[in-house]
Amino acid sequence: MTHDPYAHITAPAGTMLFEEGEPGDFAYLITSGRIEIFLGRGESRTVLAVRGPGEIFGEMAILDSDPRSASARALEDCVLVPVSEAQIRHRLSETDPVLRLCLGVVMARYRETVARLTGRAPAPSPARAPATSASPAARADFDAAIAAVVVERELRRALDRGEFELFFQPIVRLGPDTLAGFEALIRWRHPERGVVAPGVFIPVAEESGLVVEITAWVLSEVGRVLPEIMLAGLQNPRAAGEPMFLSVNISGHDLANASFPGMIGEMLRRTGIAPEHLKLEITESTLMRDPASAADALNLCRESGMGIAIDDFGTGYSSLSYLSTLPITTLKVDRAFVRAMLTEPRDRKIIQTILRLADEIGIPVVAEGIEESAEAEALARMGCAYGQGYHFGRPAPLAETLALIRAWNASQAPARSASAA
Ligand code: CMP
Ligand code: MG
Repeated sequence: MTHDPYAHITAPAGTMLFEEGEPGDFAYLITSGRIEIFLGRGESRTVLAVRGPGEIFGEMAILDSDPRSASARALEDCVLVPVSEAQIRHRLSETDPVLRLCLGVVMARYRETVARLTGRAPAPSPARAPATSASPAARADFDAAIAAVVVERELRRALDRGEFELFFQPIVRLGPDTLAGFEALIRWRHPERGVVAPGVFIPVAEESGLVVEITAWVLSEVGRVLPEIMLAGLQNPRAAGEPMFLSVNISGHDLANASFPGMIGEMLRRTGIAPEHLKLEITESTLMRDPASAADALNLCRESGMGIAIDDFGTGYSSLSYLSTLPITTLKVDRAFVRAMLTEPRDRKIIQTILRLADEIGIPVVAEGIEESAEAEALARMGCAYGQGYHFGRPAPLAETLALIRAWNASQAPARSASAA
């Protein structure tokens, strides 16, 4: 059957839709009527199935590029929505490599079983060869599946065996140079690979859903260490001046998880930490993915008193609608602007504009990635309230962080130059 790919198909009862062995370039969604799937023809016809509204057929030939595994004809007047090979292939290429491998195996097994039961020889097909001896694309798929499975397995082990660790990087009030708080940054101490950065494993954790458990671990760890950090700050009046906060990076998966606000609330109650001392950092790309569910979770957290910071501002879509609709309390300007601001007037102007915007709506700004005192001084003159970067301190384990707080002297800041070295 040939048809107009831009329209629904109306197939009168009795229409042959396609025949076994033909190449296939469309699958069909049935919106009304019933179709019959069968093998053979005439007397030796075997009906495999009857399919009706809400079902799809003709998908196999598209998924594995093998010929039609059976014939199909309309039993009643049918309305079908054609799904093109390109539409299916695109979706397939976007799915998880492990799922893709499973799908290939299930289909190959089905075709082999039918061939054995009906006594037909299956057509020789590259799609049914093991991935390791098939095309380079199949081989790459197989390798990707192995890599994903191995990293996931290792992440699970990391959770079970306590291989994660929080590092802390100071956030400083520019000008007086007192400690305002710290950003908690996760590190993975891999037994063979050493310290692995979150950029490497968080995307895998997000894909596998493990990120929710990792965040639960981060929050319990925050509950354990934040009182210690705050106490160290209170014991050194030259360091902080007022109670410090801890910033925690949160992924879109966390915000989409309905139990997330409750989980944080529970941690705060258990540890007696006031919500004002906790800030959630969310990147623009996270907000973009699912703004509606993010807004619900963030509103709940904000209502209880936590701070909400937009991370890496200026690198994503920097949509002003976040600033108007979400309960944002801090804006973190991406390091890319800070790095270039002393040499590129344009970047300096962008920072100035962000600062003016934030000032108008009453939100303080943290400049990320400050590496030199000249940058810190320029930002302070421009009215930027907070800064973060190697100039003030690299991310460091808890013990070093407590030592940094105890030694911090805002007026001289000797600890700073030692830690930036
Ligand atoms: P395809 O191989 O492209 O073309 C024939 C279609 O019939 C196949 O995709 C499936 O959608 C469908 N099909 C094949 N075997 C069966 C079966 N045993 N039961 C139901 N549907 C089938
Ligand atoms: Mg951050």
